[in-house]
Amino acid sequence: MASILVTRTLPDAVLSRLRGAAEIDVWAEPQAIPRETLLSRVRGRDALVCLLTDRIDSEVLDAAGPSLRVVANVAVGYNNIDVAACRARHVTVTNTPDVLTNACADFTWGLILAITRRLGEGERVVRAGRWGGWALDYMLGMELRGKQLGIVGLGRIGVAVAEKASAFGMRVAYSGRRPVEMPGAVHLSLEELLRTSDVVSLHCPSTPETLHLMNAARLSLMRPTAYLINTSRGPVVDEAALADALQSGRLAGAALDVYEREPEIHPALFGLENALLIPHLASATTETRTAMADLAASNALAVLAGQPAVTPV
Ligand code: GLV
Repeated sequence: MASILVTRTLPDAVLSRLRGAAEIDVWAEPQAIPRETLLSRVRGRDALVCLLTDRIDSEVLDAAGPSLRVVANVAVGYNNIDVAACRARHVTVTNTPDVLTNACADFTWGLILAITRRLGEGERVVRAGRWGGWALDYMLGMELRGKQLGIVGLGRIGVAVAEKASAFGMRVAYSGRRPVEMPGAVHLSLEELLRTSDVVSLHCPSTPETLHLMNAARLSLMRPTAYLINTSRGPVVDEAALADALQSGRLAGAALDVYEREPEIHPALFGLENALLIPHLASATTETRTAMADLAASNALAVLAGQPAVTPV
């Protein structure tokens, strides 16, 4: 029987599916599997079902040994996996696209509304007992209607975010390597998009090319009245430069779901009322997380059965 290491507990129905086809070893603690434990428990496995909190590199692949055939990430992003090292060892890598697109797009709009209408700030005031009552000019935000939403990376999630823009009366611009067939959306260079957008939302993958894509120079192209939204991956934004821009009023606000060194967050961001800080929740609905785990299981089981993976990267 094939043997699978699962690095975090998954919904029962998904674990039962895996158990029906293989012997499984599940790291069931609430925190990520410690590196040493991962290295020892991966030995001799045929499949690894892992999370974005696990770094899967040559060291892990060497520890697993030649039996390993598939690394199934329970995430759409796979920057935690050294795909080239997997390829070199003929190990298939899979991710979980599509099933989380809607949840992430809804969530992005949640962030856009929350930061432009100061919901985090307002809630903090109320909970602290500091609310003095209604006033005409109190805690004013920015209206979305008539403004430009700039999407950096018009992939599946970027498209889903763009599709909801008309509900809020926003025009859409996007940047990315290729123009995409999307009526009403304008393709701009990144620089032009940053200069002209009122809300900039990042939806590109984390790669060596996108590392600190939003650095001090690019942040300075944004309007001082504009907002930055990041639901992609933390390293796409230079957190220190962002904190600086927010602090000095060169940017109106930022809503972040992801960070450079999760779960650490740049300390300067904590003191900023115009930063909305969320703990990596974009895909976190019961329906979507279950579908992600189920798709990762389907990928692992398909490869173990000698079939093509459902969603290889
Ligand atoms: C979550 O961040 C994912 O990549 O699925």
